[in-house]
Amino acid sequence: MRIQIEPKNAYHLINHGPCNLLTTGDGTLKNVAPINWVMPLEISPPMMLAVVEKGIYTDELIQKSKEFVINVAGENLAEQVMACGKGHGRDFDKFAKTGLTPVASKSVKPPYIKESVAHIECQVVDQHPHGAVTIYVGKVVNAEIEEGMWDGKSIIPSKAKTLHHLSAGTFVISERTVTVAKKPTP
Ligand SMILES: Cc1cc2nc3c(=O)[nH]c(=O)nc-3n(C[C@H](O)[C@H](O)[C@H](O)COP(=O)(O)O)c2cc1C
Repeated sequence: MRIQIEPKNAYHLINHGPCNLLTTGDGTLKNVAPINWVMPLEISPPMMLAVVEKGIYTDELIQKSKEFVINVAGENLAEQVMACGKGHGRDFDKFAKTGLTPVASKSVKPPYIKESVAHIECQVVDQHPHGAVTIYVGKVVNAEIEEGMWDGKSIIPSKAKTLHHLSAGTFVISERTVTVAKKPTP
């Protein structure tokens, strides 16, 4: 038996992908905000998609530089994720407020966050306005993860302990894997 939930709450059923802090900037200005609605779009060439509310400072800075960095948050960053989701970076310095450390990225102007587990540097190649949001398509130009948190194919959950936001400041912390053994083809 199932219970029905309101259509407006349906997104909570699939809302707990990795919690991402998007960093933006043009080399002088910089900002950080949690933007969870981020997903891979293509493998070759590698593309990411980010859903960003029109008019927030993150949106303004992406429009300026046409670049963004996806920072994957670990359990150490839960407080900072919620703090960066309040208010707008045009009004105060979120790095100073939260203690997050901006570090120069290799291939784009926005910094990455030193305290994150991993980061993905993206250059915007396409954008689609839709209602109150803009869907940005970013080409991956550089990606890095903390040493010891990558097994050659994927992130190691027990080491990375990534955050996954459920709702209203409650998170899941990813810690274990299940592997389905490959069956020989008949
Ligand atoms: C966990 C979490 C996830 C969020 N995900 C998104 C998102 O995917 N897209 C978005 O536009 N805003 C998202 N927000 C809201 C923005 O982070 C929020 O509007 C923020 O204040 C924008 O800051 P800025 O004006 O400095 O860019 C999220 C907030 C939280 C707390």
